[in-house]
Amino acid sequence: MKEEVVAVKGVVLAGGLGTRLRPLTAVANKHLLPVYNQPMIYYPIQTLVNAGIQDIMIVTGGNSAGDFLKLLGNGKAFGLKHINYTYQEGEGGIADALSLVEHFASGEPICVILGDNIIEGNIRAAARAYRHQGGGAKILLKKVPDPQRFGVPELEGKHVLRIEEKPATPKSEYAVIGIYFYDGDVFDIIRTLVPSGRGELEITDVNNAYIERGEMTWDELEGWWTDAGTFESLLRASNLVAQSGANKMEMRNAAEVSVAR
Ligand code: DAU
Repeated sequence: MKEEVVAVKGVVLAGGLGTRLRPLTAVANKHLLPVYNQPMIYYPIQTLVNAGIQDIMIVTGGNSAGDFLKLLGNGKAFGLKHINYTYQEGEGGIADALSLVEHFASGEPICVILGDNIIEGNIRAAARAYRHQGGGAKILLKKVPDPQRFGVPELEGKHVLRIEEKPATPKSEYAVIGIYFYDGDVFDIIRTLVPSGRGELEITDVNNAYIERGEMTWDELEGWWTDAGTFESLLRASNLVAQSGANKMEMRNAAEVSVAR
């Protein structure tokens, strides 16, 4: 049976400097570090491909950005015909990295995934639901034991009232995971942002702008989710992948992955 292609473009954000993982990231790009038996970047790409998304751009940055091209080439190992790349200078934040894909998106809906986010399940249903939503934004939430490490939503039933970035006193047990769906307005919203206290254009500010417009929906993610941007979470990611067999993902021709020299 032919696989359904979801008409949403995909974006993997793999910029930034990965400072919380120094010295591992002193030379290597964080997203090329191993998570169990694969480079970190494989997982978010595979998440998009598993959702039926085939038109993908990767935003790289920081160290060894050219190695992404060596590793991923045109995306053949993921069953893709082509991968688009761009480069973020510095560490201006997630929304700054996202601003670089405006030309690629060309007004169409996009699914954005952070390069250090790894999930067990599939976001195909969410992608389809977002497509039917017909505009605005959608976020995915997951209950976590340590919400203060993440963007945390304040919820009223199916409504999200506001999101706070790394709050000392979280208003719910949920984290906003690093997978977001946006329409073409996202780039206009980013242009209105000012850097946060940590000097970054925050994705949480983008999401709050959609909430204020009344154009935000959310779904709860099934299966486990982790980021991999700290020593603790990097280890957890490897363990989760090893234990769950997520490494046996539907990667096509995995054995054929050849690194250009
Ligand atoms: O993992 C989910 C969390 O990710 C969300 O709950 C938070 O709301 C969101 O702000 C983000 O939090 P972090 O502080 O953990 O994000 P971090 O700085 O670790 O960046 C995550 C990924 O985003 C990183 O692996 C690559 C991409 N990124 C980040 C920055 C700062 C870029 O592409 N460019 C950047 O400048």
